[in-house]
Amino acid sequence: MISASSPGKIILFGEHAVVYGRPAIAAPVSQVRATAHVADSTQVELHLVDLDRMLLAPDSTHPLGKAIELVRAECGLSDVPPVKITIESTIPIASGLGSGAAIASALIRALHTHWQAPPDNATVNRLTYEIEKIFHGTPSGIDNTVVTYERPVYFRRAEPTNLIAPFTVKGRVDLLIADTGVKASTKAVVGDLRGRWAQARARYEIYFDQCATIVEKAKAALEQGDLPQLGRLMDANQAVLAEMGVSSAALETLIASARTAGAYGAKLSGAGGGGNLIALVDPADSDRIRQTLLDAGARRVIATTLE
Ligand code: PMV
Repeated sequence: MISASSPGKIILFGEHAVVYGRPAIAAPVSQVRATAHVADSTQVELHLVDLDRMLLAPDSTHPLGKAIELVRAECGLSDVPPVKITIESTIPIASGLGSGAAIASALIRALHTHWQAPPDNATVNRLTYEIEKIFHGTPSGIDNTVVTYERPVYFRRAEPTNLIAPFTVKGRVDLLIADTGVKASTKAVVGDLRGRWAQARARYEIYFDQCATIVEKAKAALEQGDLPQLGRLMDANQAVLAEMGVSSAALETLIASARTAGAYGAKLSGAGGGGNLIALVDPADSDRIRQTLLDAGARRVIATTLE
């Protein structure tokens, strides 16, 4: 049996504006992962363990059926060989942690390895992006990039190729990822924002430019290990995201409680509308702020460190 896994991800700065060609910074979250197992079988079967579902011969109308089809073509096979695929994931779905991208990326890597040989990251990334288009409509490409390469990236959507620049974080950066428990569809939040942008382009382009400026400053702060500055920039990014209409009451409540409890800064992460927020904390305060977030209604809090 062949297995492959991909991590969850958080967007540290620049979500949404990244869809409109501005830069963004994202990092993997290795504590939560999607894993795909592939073994020979007598039929094509896809077991989604966490959803308690089994699909026989999934076709290209299903995102994972499409992933199977893409890998078949990539491996130069004329038919899909019978195979049993089992997918497990500890990444919460529809909450901004990139679960769709991680599942697709793990499946593509495992299948390609099983049918031919381990694929290079560029191939996994390119095919995962095709699946992201089905999940998200107009994805920037940042989710598939971070979960495939599994390292922090500074990313900008561009033609003909996206800019993907790894960078070094100075010292350690401790983050809490808190789940509002409110599921939000990335496709819907991104689509609603597109509608507002179409009605008031000039205003939204200014918001996106503000996000871009914050991202550039944040990259410098990460490289310098300047945590107070990083916290201020998170707060500034959150203010712009709220203006753009992608925050929510549940997010604002938890963000405020993290800040009051002493976080350097806090913001939503990913599409917003619900889902997860991230708070930058001093390691000495992490347990206390984590408990504050749980008391304020967070469904779960994951502690992660960028180094
Ligand atoms: O909600 P998530 O984890 O899928 O993140 C979406 C990030 C956006 O910038 C809102 C969309 C995109 O494609 O980059």
